[in-house]
Amino acid sequence: MNKEKKNFYDDNGYVILEKIFSDSEAETFNSFIRRHANDAFAAIINPDRYESLLEQDKRPKSDLTLKEIKETSSMARAIMTDKKMSDILNFFHEKKSVALSSQFIFKEAYSDYSSQAWKPHQDNFYPKSKNAAYVTLNWFLKDADKENGTIYCYPGSHKLGLLPAENNISFREKVGSNPGSECQIPKEFLEKKTDIIIPGNSIVILNGNCIHGSYPNNSDRSRPWYSSCYISEGEDFLVGNSSKRKEIKLS
Ligand SMILES: [Fe+2]
Repeated sequence: MNKEKKNFYDDNGYVILEKIFSDSEAETFNSFIRRHANDAFAAIINPDRYESLLEQDKRPKSDLTLKEIKETSSMARAIMTDKKMSDILNFFHEKKSVALSSQFIFKEAYSDYSSQAWKPHQDNFYPKSKNAAYVTLNWFLKDADKENGTIYCYPGSHKLGLLPAENNISFREKVGSNPGSECQIPKEFLEKKTDIIIPGNSIVILNGNCIHGSYPNNSDRSRPWYSSCYISEGEDFLVGNSSKRKEIKLS
């Protein structure tokens, strides 16, 4: 975290921060969460909540499964609320924040969801915070590039505020369809489209109003990604049917 990164974030609406957690923490979390994936490697919503992970884990509920659910949800919550995460938010977002929800996207090579590519959207379309108060911290556990489905964005678009958009299903949508509540991209931004090439074990901080989407994974490399969502303390937000946002205090 330095002035250069902060200026980049202010200008572009995103910035990459490498190795906030250790490589072994990234490895451990990836192997923990994979235990709960279904056959299609569908995304898991709120893996930091025991009840939520319990509901989405379709294995028989043996003592071992329950132990693993407890282990993974505790680790997911610890990451989301880690002091390092609140330090990042204090520095870049400049407001005291609370966590709202999380999501794990596997983008597993050769899985039903590998071809899934998000349409250009603003994350803030869903919670609809005012005052650009919504921000996400996205932990990419492995390298992400155009071939394995990285994200692209329109730098500077976070300054446009919340744009009109379609209301599409964005969680466990039909296999083969592309999720994302596509927004209208102002003409002058179209040529600014930038692929974000991310070294493994990096966190991408993304302003909730920055327009972004993702590519399909056409490679033999998975692109696991843990996304934690935050809002400035005291700001209003929509709870949402699948995200079930609620204020969670940070360390
Ligand atoms: Fe998004």
